[in-house]
Amino acid sequence: MAWIDDYKAKLCTADEAVQVIQSGQRVYISGNAATPFPILEALARRKDELENVELVHVLLLGEDPLSRPEMEGHFRHNSLFVGPADREAVNSGRADYVPIHLHEIPRILREKLPLDVAIVHLSPPDEHGFMSFGVEVMASKVTVETAKTIIALVNDKMPRTHGDSFVHVSRVHKIVEVSMDLPEFRRGTFGELEKKIASYITDLIDDGATLQLGIGAIPDAVLAGLEGKRDLGVHTEMASDGVMEAIEKGIITGARKTLHPGKVVSTFILGSRKLYEFVDDNPVFELHPVDYTNHPFIIAQNDNMVSINSALEVDLTGQVCSDSIGEYIYSGFGGQVDFVRGAAESKGGKPIIALPSTAKGGTISRIVPYLKRGAGVVTSRADVHYVVTEYGVADLHGRNLRERARALIEIAHPKFREELERAAYERKLLPKIFAVGKELSKD
Ligand code: COA
Repeated sequence: MAWIDDYKAKLCTADEAVQVIQSGQRVYISGNAATPFPILEALARRKDELENVELVHVLLLGEDPLSRPEMEGHFRHNSLFVGPADREAVNSGRADYVPIHLHEIPRILREKLPLDVAIVHLSPPDEHGFMSFGVEVMASKVTVETAKTIIALVNDKMPRTHGDSFVHVSRVHKIVEVSMDLPEFRRGTFGELEKKIASYITDLIDDGATLQLGIGAIPDAVLAGLEGKRDLGVHTEMASDGVMEAIEKGIITGARKTLHPGKVVSTFILGSRKLYEFVDDNPVFELHPVDYTNHPFIIAQNDNMVSINSALEVDLTGQVCSDSIGEYIYSGFGGQVDFVRGAAESKGGKPIIALPSTAKGGTISRIVPYLKRGAGVVTSRADVHYVVTEYGVADLHGRNLRERARALIEIAHPKFREELERAAYERKLLPKIFAVGKELSKD
């Protein structure tokens, strides 16, 4: 059968497609801007017919009908990266969280979490019958290779992205056609604080460097502050509007990249409609599965790799907490350690953790003597290199605990430095107190 006949034979409504899902099965859902809302809504309508369906996913965007309290017993999320859609369910015990490095997700889906059904969000087929994973390749590629049944949401507004980003019509079982705008991630503004942090970071970025940065005010401020730099490249987990703008300004060319020269390599795209249109059939962008983009050995093949990630708090020994606020699970490991390790192994590479020195309107320090009770270490103190706040740069790698405590206190907010010094002294991290008026220690 020609692929077009096969395609037509598989067409159905969302309510018909979700009939393939049975109680007790494990189902993968694509995420980010590829979150397949119409299928999730159809599945929610089947709630009373289903029990104990496990939903595995990375980051779902928008309102998730399957994590509402009334779904308990019918659907249970097993989240590989927690976001606003499932945060409440995870922290109230109605959903589960798997701490995992992003590059390992395809492997655990093959070996430890075998899938019954995968729900993926795709572009329409090309003339050869290949549909593109569009704005998120991530783990979707492995799920269509391994799941027993594949439901494809085919959307004419899903861009066709290049790279290792295709699945043939013959591989999927049910096709639901839609024409819907993808969710956009609207950028917030960044202020003087983020500009200051970005200025310390851009000082660490040499011409010809390859960058990884995520989403948020600090990455946006970094991308906006790259004026004057030449021939930067991108090898990242996520590409945003800021990357598009730096390409348009001629700052990102990829000309000196040692792996995939001239290409922006990424596993997902998240931003505005303009960005989604920009990546459509644009050979500058290559999307690959996350076990490629985020594998530290692959990342390290980019010389002068600079990774820029954020954190919730950092203790005085350099332990970086990024996925929880104390016991409260906030997000996930994502690709933070993947890129910290990849950049560390890269020739001339620099792994950077950047964060404001305070949180909660300046009332608490993010540089702390001890992490909060229950806080999870994402980047360990052996992995950490540069920590940047609006007060400067602490280069911790290869430094002892006393040197780290001093360097981190120097980049803490001034109003917390005295308290941090006292705590460091009491913790025996510092032999004496230097900055406060009277010395507490005997020399
Ligand atoms: N104590 C208490 N609350 C804190 C806190 C602390 N030390 N630090 C931050 N918070 C609060 C903030 O006030 C904010 O609360 P609000 O939403 O009520 O305003 C919330 O936690 C989030 O903090 P914010 O600084 O806005 O976080 P962010 O959106 O910049 O994200 C991470 C920071 C660390 C959560 C995010 O980068 C992450 O998930 N990283 C791990 C994954 C990763 O690095 N992936 C690779 C890049 S794609």
